[in-house]
Amino acid sequence: MTRAVPLALCVIAAAHGAAVQSLPIVPRPAVVRYLNGIFLLDRSTLIYADPEARPVAEWFSGQMRSEFGVAMDSTTEAPPRNAVRFLLDTSLPEEGYRLRIEPRNGITILGSPAGLFYGAQSVLQLTTARGHSTFVLPASEIQDQPRFAYRGLHLDTSRHMFPVDFLKRYLDWMARYKLNRFHWHLTDDQGWRIEIRKYPRLMEVASMRKETLVGHAPQSTKSDGTPYGGFYTQEQIREVVAYAQERFITVIPEIDMPGHSLAAMAAYPELACTEGPFETATTWGGFKDVFCPKETTFQFLENVLTEVMELFPSRYIHIGGDEVEKDRWKESTDAQDVIRREGLKDESELQSYFIRRIEQFVNSKGRRIIGWDEILEGGLAPDATVMSWRGEDGGIAAARQGHDVIMTPGAYLYFDHYQGDRKKEPLAIGGMLPLENVYSYNPEPAVLNAEEKKHILGAQANLWTEYMADTRQVEYMLFPRLLALAEVVWSPQETRNYRDFQNRVTPQLARLKRQGVNYRPLDVQRPRSSKRVKQHP
Ligand code: ACM
Repeated sequence: MTRAVPLALCVIAAAHGAAVQSLPIVPRPAVVRYLNGIFLLDRSTLIYADPEARPVAEWFSGQMRSEFGVAMDSTTEAPPRNAVRFLLDTSLPEEGYRLRIEPRNGITILGSPAGLFYGAQSVLQLTTARGHSTFVLPASEIQDQPRFAYRGLHLDTSRHMFPVDFLKRYLDWMARYKLNRFHWHLTDDQGWRIEIRKYPRLMEVASMRKETLVGHAPQSTKSDGTPYGGFYTQEQIREVVAYAQERFITVIPEIDMPGHSLAAMAAYPELACTEGPFETATTWGGFKDVFCPKETTFQFLENVLTEVMELFPSRYIHIGGDEVEKDRWKESTDAQDVIRREGLKDESELQSYFIRRIEQFVNSKGRRIIGWDEILEGGLAPDATVMSWRGEDGGIAAARQGHDVIMTPGAYLYFDHYQGDRKKEPLAIGGMLPLENVYSYNPEPAVLNAEEKKHILGAQANLWTEYMADTRQVEYMLFPRLLALAEVVWSPQETRNYRDFQNRVTPQLARLKRQGVNYRPLDVQRPRSSKRVKQHP
């Protein structure tokens, strides 16, 4: 027999827990100390910033205006009280900050510009309205810094693409939860989405598909009969990169090769091992036609990457490398000639040769490559960083070989997977990844020793958009899982606690709701089964 705990009791317990255990900040700060009282912020509160901190202070002031409707004045002389002070302190850990909220004195944030920015994000999360033009913040002291340097979120804009304004909102969400790497998946079988001036047919042909699958692949063969396409102009890309930079986010572009390249071959069939003709894919799944390792292909890719590197200041360029079907290479005299000429053992080594060639070019421009974990097969390129997606094994192997690693295992960080009972959820690619599973992830595998663990730069969640046709669906798949990711990559492992996290998620969802974000509601908490409670006879 189960005995239900009255809902009101749960709510009181949860509210009490939130007040006692932690400030409502996501991701949870490293160290929090409570002080007595509150600080009341209103129109009379001034903003002061050291010269190097002014861009962050201005951004904060803009957020106070747009999020809370309060216009704050700035001053160039440090006010004795009732102020928000942004003070440069480069002695703190990178991206770390110190934050002090005192009853009359106000708010003081210390850090490098990035740290100050994250401190400001914490302040915004702590700000709640009390009446029309007064805001209340709990007196407290925070000492905070990220656990990982790489805190990533990916978005596939090939399968479906989204307006620049939405990408900016995406970056705003990342910044709010202290993520700092946006992995922008720009090319794939179903569409090429980046303007490359040297190759106009990429925009005319590769950016378009004649129709799109309806339902789930491969069971469904129905199509919508409607052409779909578009691409981001170089001007738009510069706008997104600049917007990200203002929020301390690096945009890492991905140009996927040698697989996931059907759209490019539809435009330029000479890049393939067979004659074609090819069509930009209209359904989801893998395709046998991949770039052929010919000199003309390398020339094309170097020209493409040259334009890419002019647009993206990121040290890292992602070159894909995933899911390369080798059938065409086995049948192609061009590919087999390369295997013989280079003394390679097989097509896996040919893939490795392909990636090494590209790496040499990227390195020659002072940049580095990231590739999906398939780039381990046939031998890693000397300077490559590995993104481990087929579980953690690739990441573990790469770390043991002394390579840097970004963890993004499907079972924990693929946000295209279902969040609950699939009969009740919108159509998704498959899998099952409820919020709690994301939260439970630790990017440092226990099997690695301390030295190897240093190669785990961080983690990233991926949003592949085959089954996300519009921004509402992207939002649904992103929230609230994004909040769990934030805590996985930012908060100290020893402070992680799912119950405490849930308490802090609720006020975040209320904010998202006010902003009209289509988040997935939390599952209704069932009281723990009374089976665990010893019953007296
Ligand atoms: C991938 O999900 N194909 C990297």
